[in-house]
Amino acid sequence: MSAVLPVLATRLSTAAAAAFGASSGAFDPELRSATKPEFGHYQSNLALRLGNALGRPPREIAAQLVAALDVADLCETPSIAGPGFINLTLKKSTLAAAVNAPRLFPRRDQRVVVDYSQPNVAKRMHVGHLRSTVIGDALCNVLQYVGYDVVRQNHVGDWGTQYGMMIEQALAEELDAKDLDLQGLQLLYERSRKHFDADSAFADKSRRRVVLLQSGDPETRASWRRMVDVSLADFEQVYALLGSKLTRADVVGESAYNDELPRIVDDLTAAGLLTESDGALCAFLPGFKGRDGRRLPVIVRKSDGGFGYSATDLAAVRHRVDTLHADRIVYVVDHRQALHFEQIFTLARTAGWLPSTTTAEHIGFGTVLGPDGKPFKTRAGGTVKLISLLDEAVARADALLEGREGVDRQATAKAVGIGAVKYADLSSDRGNDYVFDLDRMVATNGNTGPYLQYAHARLTRLLSKAGEAHDQVTELREPAEERLALLLTGFADVVEQVAETLQPHRLCTYLYDVATALSVFYEQCPVLAGEGDIRASRIALCSATRTVLQDGLGLLGIQAPDAM
Ligand code: ARG
Repeated sequence: MSAVLPVLATRLSTAAAAAFGASSGAFDPELRSATKPEFGHYQSNLALRLGNALGRPPREIAAQLVAALDVADLCETPSIAGPGFINLTLKKSTLAAAVNAPRLFPRRDQRVVVDYSQPNVAKRMHVGHLRSTVIGDALCNVLQYVGYDVVRQNHVGDWGTQYGMMIEQALAEELDAKDLDLQGLQLLYERSRKHFDADSAFADKSRRRVVLLQSGDPETRASWRRMVDVSLADFEQVYALLGSKLTRADVVGESAYNDELPRIVDDLTAAGLLTESDGALCAFLPGFKGRDGRRLPVIVRKSDGGFGYSATDLAAVRHRVDTLHADRIVYVVDHRQALHFEQIFTLARTAGWLPSTTTAEHIGFGTVLGPDGKPFKTRAGGTVKLISLLDEAVARADALLEGREGVDRQATAKAVGIGAVKYADLSSDRGNDYVFDLDRMVATNGNTGPYLQYAHARLTRLLSKAGEAHDQVTELREPAEERLALLLTGFADVVEQVAETLQPHRLCTYLYDVATALSVFYEQCPVLAGEGDIRASRIALCSATRTVLQDGLGLLGIQAPDAM
């Protein structure tokens, strides 16, 4: 499926430049899919915008544009509608050729670093980490697909004062972190916190333990390491169930930057960017003010001498630019951290650590809500255990498959259940909150994962019944097959858009449109009962549709089982 739309858009720009001078060719031709079949395949409002800029009637401009437009090889004669819209209709042969052509993305000489998932040691992953993991995986897939060199970074929260407390608590209770699972670690943390607040001698010991940890005392490091390992093993179970591509090699936790932190302070101090405030070292950046009008600090070193979350993120920016050679850095973190990242990016740019040739983007996302419309919590108010949610989704999917024949039940239930959860997460604008509603997620109707998987499985069945394979679409007689073919040619364009905007829901909407057009096609165009060329061409169209669904779901990190 090669994309025709960008080719036509370029031709329009060229026509504008030829008819009205070079600068008019720089106008975005805003070529879009036509909103109604009578407007052809694509429409552009370039004449309206140029008319505005030049102070001339848009219809006149449109006529001049069309006269200069060279698309006779690809399109029927262009037409002008309404106030001056230019409508383009592809020749059937162009459309068929576009469906048949392979999809090619040139390799980009650009590296993108994606910071995602980022759970915290000694705490179970929660639904926020689910979102980051699912969105991050999908974005990595898409970026890689369009030719970026992708580097994953799992910025695990594995550093800070709580580990000093936990190590002391384990010593006091004569526990070995190795014998604790993640749940056990979380409870140990809660006990250590209480102990810390109630007993100042214990608090002092814990602080000394933090210093030992940060300075690399071998025994302290070994206890900490055991807690990290227990936690990572637990995260990996979730990743395996999710089918996430993250591995141990992608973990570059907060602790990895420990040795760099003093240098961050030294360099910022030398650059005159730090101010002492209540014993802490802070950067006050112009333009960052709280609601009360007071300037908001970036706390680089706390009053107790420890370094915080911000210092670590500054060191991470430097590492990503200097060592990983990132051209683009993407942070998939919930939208409550928007201000933090704005501050980090601004400070890193001011300090000269983030050159203008490297972009940094915070890809925020909304909150997962429970059935009551409030942030998703257990009845007791705790965070919901992620793995049990996923297990429940798989169980619901398994129930759906009851009585189906020729289906590998266990593997399919997993693909459908996990796919349903991922699709629900990816299909709405990531900035929005959404309700975690398993019934809706696993529904086989509507804009859901299972609906798309089902469309794919039905195509697979049809194609295997067809007996013979065909890969050339040659006939596009019915409007329904034309519409489906036209949609298929838009795949590459949508994937490019997702790579640019980092909004996976655009791909979901597109795939849903394809599946919907497919069901209209089934109703109106007999495939296996067709004859000769028509039959062969429709089999080829089905085969191309199947590829788009399979690849599209694959980019979203969702499996497409052959039967369900
Ligand atoms: N571990 C953090 C949390 O759970 C998210 C880390 C995001 N990444 C970063 N570079 N700060 O909230």
